[in-house]
Amino acid sequence: MSNKKILILPGDGIGNEVMAEVLKIIDWMEKTKSLSFDISERLVGGTAYDKEGNSISDETMQVAMDCDAVLFGAVGGAKWDNVERDKRPEAALLRLRKDLDLFANLRPAVVLDALSDSSSLKSDLVKGLDILIIRELTSGVYFGQPRGISKISETESKAVDTQLYTTSEVNRVSRVAFDLAKLRNNKVTSVEKSNVMETGLFWKQTVTDLHKKEYSDVNLEHMLADNCAMQLVRYPKQFDVILTDNLFGDLLSDTAAMLTGSLGMLPSAALGPVKENGTRAAMYEPVHGSAPDIAGQSKANPLAMIMSFAMMLKYSFDMQEDSQMVEKAVQNVLLKGLRTADIKDGAEKIISTQEMGNAVIEELKILSGN
Ligand code: IPM
Ligand code: MG
Repeated sequence: MSNKKILILPGDGIGNEVMAEVLKIIDWMEKTKSLSFDISERLVGGTAYDKEGNSISDETMQVAMDCDAVLFGAVGGAKWDNVERDKRPEAALLRLRKDLDLFANLRPAVVLDALSDSSSLKSDLVKGLDILIIRELTSGVYFGQPRGISKISETESKAVDTQLYTTSEVNRVSRVAFDLAKLRNNKVTSVEKSNVMETGLFWKQTVTDLHKKEYSDVNLEHMLADNCAMQLVRYPKQFDVILTDNLFGDLLSDTAAMLTGSLGMLPSAALGPVKENGTRAAMYEPVHGSAPDIAGQSKANPLAMIMSFAMMLKYSFDMQEDSQMVEKAVQNVLLKGLRTADIKDGAEKIISTQEMGNAVIEELKILSGN
């Protein structure tokens, strides 16, 4: 099998610490299984701004274009709050999404049995929860033109953002949602504000048309975004796949994330269109941020980063068994009561970032008989 080209972008804050634990796992996999990854590592975010003058350089973008998958840590921090918008740490993330055309963002919110007491909701509401949010990631109000702040008169100014979607943009992300729903509980909830927004009405109609033509075997329901936010905290188990636009997906995925008890547990994938040779650009990143307040203290939970790597094995390299093994190793570590500080409820022992990474490798050794 040819080498798998991975670009590692640890980023800022705890990004470096949690990525280091994934690198240990990659190392272990290369030693024990006859496979090798071809790894390059570069700067991104505030760290890149400080050293290279931009939050992502053109060279790094080129490496990202040429690799099979990008593994992204986290970016941002108060230190860069006053940097101009197009050079801010977050701009790197938006550029990667846009230039790699990563239109489909998969954000699973899964409550592991060992952690059902960590949720802010009663455990019977969330025990066994398994939701997949599919967020459109390269269009909508994040990228729509025109946008900007301008003067109308001496005393008045105005600000404009544009929410814009085309038929093909809605179709392609909807297809991802319907296809993945078929592998799960076969239900898609499409979320918009069709009662207020033209784009909402358009989204609903476009999803309905596609469903009728190509996916009538999947259960489809429509929900207004405000109701969806409410239903997520009222009775989250009603959902299987939630399909929504860029902005609502941003909000709803944080809500869904909190149901699971810790942002430190949640991975994500962003996928591009499938190319003629069957491959697709992809980027994997934990849902948590760079957490500058705990950076460098070995307190960060590396499990979301490790689970993001598991998603990479599954979606970019078709290594289902290895992906499941990494997920299982994480679950086993938690079942043994080992916890980082962010998930300390029910802990037998609070351990460091590095100890958590080591514990996952110990479980991998047991599971693989190596
Ligand atoms: C996310 C983040 C980003 C977003 C920020 C950092 C630009 O909140 O990935 O959810 O809004 O998309
Ligand atoms: Mg967000």
